[in-house]
This record gives sequence, C-alpha cells and structure tokens, in this order.
Amino acid sequence: MKHFITLVSSILIVAALLIGLFIYKRYTRIEYPAANHKERTLAIIKPDAVEKKYTGQIIDLIEKNDFSILSMKKIALSKHEAETFYAVHAHRPFFNDLITFMTSGPVVIMMLEKDNAITSWRSLMGSTNPKEAPEESLRKKFGTDVQKNALHGSDSPENAQLELHFFFPEHND
Ligand code: RTP
Ligand code: MG
Repeated sequence: MKHFITLVSSILIVAALLIGLFIYKRYTRIEYPAANHKERTLAIIKPDAVEKKYTGQIIDLIEKNDFSILSMKKIALSKHEAETFYAVHAHRPFFNDLITFMTSGPVVIMMLEKDNAITSWRSLMGSTNPKEAPEESLRKKFGTDVQKNALHGSDSPENAQLELHFFFPEHND
C-alpha cells in the first residue's frame, strides 16, 4: 500500500511538472536581445585584382576576418552575364565601361558566410571609391579607382539571395 501511494504521488508530481512546463511555454514570451545571425553574401574579386595577383592575399584576409567561404569559382563573365548581373545600373553613364571592365579578365566568385555577412563584407571592402575608403579596407589596399575597385559585395539580403542564386544555382541549402 505504501509503495502504491508513493508511485501515485510520483506520477502526480511528474504530471504537475509537465502541465506547469506546458503552461509556462504556452503563455510566456521570452524576449531575446537582437541577436547576430548567420548570413550569406556574394563577393567577387574583380578582373583588376585578379590580374594583379591579389587573389591569395584577399582570400587570406577574408578568412582572417572570420568569413567562411562556402563556394568559390574562377570564371570569365560573358557580356550577357555581366549585363544581367549589373542590370540595375543599365541607365547609368558608367554602365558600358563597367561591362567592358567586368569582362576584361577572369573574376573569382565566392559565397561567404558570417554573422551579418552582408554589412560586414561591405564594411571590410570600404566605399566604392578606394580613394575615399578607410585605410584598413580591402578596396583601399587593392583597388585603384572608382571603377577598378577590386571587389564586389551584395548590398541587401534580397540582392544577396538573387546574386547567390545567379552564380551558384546548384547550391540550394
Ligand atoms: P559593387 O556593386 O560592385 O559591389 O559596388 P558598389 O555597390 O560599391 O557600387 P555601385 O554603385 O553598385 O557600382 C557598381 C560598380 O560600378 C563601377 N562604377 N564605376 N565610373 C564610375 O563612376 C563608376 N561608378 C561605379 C564600380 O566598379 C562599382 O563597384
Ligand atoms: Mg553595388
């Protein structure tokens, strides 16, 4: 009889704990502080930097800055690919020069991953014009002018997704 009472009380205690846990999870909302989140971005080492053999140094700095390179390939962009990729600039005065530049030699395309990868990569690159970029930035170190600026980076989560799919359609996770 004593064992039976102990068994029943144990079951009741466990049931009460489970019900308590269920009510707690159902009715309490835990507020987490705004967290960093893993993100992917598209990076391109442009023809000027590839030609100057900066690829190795740039990859080294990418990894030293905690990015993971999930995919990478060296390709020559066709005119059509370059025009499609930079279609947003089709009506800008520098568009034709940009396409000529981007098809002037091979480029290295990378899928990078890190917490807040998009802003982190753009910040590591520095501003479009290397002359105005911070001293430690990659465009300052490896770029020449507002066109030959060594690197590309996606500028928003929507564009990162489109650009990554454009160059890595087979990468679907
Ligand atoms: P990107 O798209 O390549 O990462 O560069 P970005 O966002 O910093 O600059 P964006 O305004 O999107 O320009 C795209 C690329 O076009 C060339 N450009 N040439 N001649 C010019 O005035 C001029 N302005 C821009 C650069 O190669 C720039 O990165
Ligand atoms: Mg841009």
